[in-house]
Amino acid sequence: MNTFPTLHLNDGNTMPQFGLGTWQSPSDQVGLAVRTAIEAGYRAIDTATIYKNEAAIGEALSEILLPRRQLHITTKLWNSDQGYDTALKAFDASLARLRLEYIDLYLIHWPLPSHDKYVDTWKALVRLRQEGRVKSIGVSNFTIAHLQRIIDETGLTPAINQIELHPWFPQKSLRDYHARKGIITESWSPIAQGGALLTDPGIVRIAQKHGRTPAQIILRWHIELGLVVIPKSVTPARIRENFALFDFKLDADDLSAIASLETGKRIGPDPDTFDMA
Ligand SMILES: NC(=O)c1ccc[n+]([C@@H]2O[C@H](COP(=O)([O-])OP(=O)(O)OC[C@H]3O[C@@H](n4cnc5c(N)ncnc54)[C@H](OP(=O)(O)O)[C@@H]3O)[C@@H](O)[C@H]2O)c1
Repeated sequence: MNTFPTLHLNDGNTMPQFGLGTWQSPSDQVGLAVRTAIEAGYRAIDTATIYKNEAAIGEALSEILLPRRQLHITTKLWNSDQGYDTALKAFDASLARLRLEYIDLYLIHWPLPSHDKYVDTWKALVRLRQEGRVKSIGVSNFTIAHLQRIIDETGLTPAINQIELHPWFPQKSLRDYHARKGIITESWSPIAQGGALLTDPGIVRIAQKHGRTPAQIILRWHIELGLVVIPKSVTPARIRENFALFDFKLDADDLSAIASLETGKRIGPDPDTFDMA
């Protein structure tokens, strides 16, 4: 049963607003994380080829007794697989590792502008969608310039851009651009990787006021901004904690206190210069 909101994408599909992240979830722990998440009510899982855990996630999914259409699985094309033909091959390999007949959402992981292959890569994703092997296609870590270029050159707007986004780095101008283009924003590192943001006095104060944990306050902030949010944990108690968000609301004072935490600094790499392949 869905107890969380579902968002409508620009391609006619829908997507759960909440899911499980799996970067740095080791293969020998991610199966338990996936099972715990599904039992808690999660219906979406986010992985990527570079996380090296697609096979373990595929094994866990193969044992889950839910109809496939109730699950939403995202994976991502790694940088070294950019290019039209290589992207098609990489997709086949991900699909096989995940033991699935289709992927719900396939993303280009990074734009790698110095390699200048992301337009051709995007054309491969468009073909995969036309073939019905992926329901929705999108990108990750694309700036306005990268997005505008693939839209201009192919006429097809991504359904999603998955980007670093948390109260320290709320990406307002990119979110505004997404809203104008009908692109859903998905937040990665939503709790800023579980570090100092969780002990920030402003967040702790709001948590105490609502009788919630700091992580729940920050995750609820993403939900109220209309973002897709995918916190990662391999700790069963945290996986359950992170999902318990749908029975309280932040008020205007909470939202303005959280807005004041912006530092403008990323935790992760800058998409214009990141070129690890
Ligand atoms: N597209 C991209 O380039 C990109 C980049 C980064 C991430 N992502 C995606 O976004 C997902 C989330 O981002 P992330 O993994 O970087 O960071 P995150 O979800 O902000 O934080 C994960 C960290 O916080 C800890 N944690 C989780 N819940 C907690 C809680 N309730 N209280 C205290 N600590 C908690 C986790 O520890 P334990 O696991 O030990 O519990 C882990 O160390 C990734 O897993 C991945 O799927 C995408």
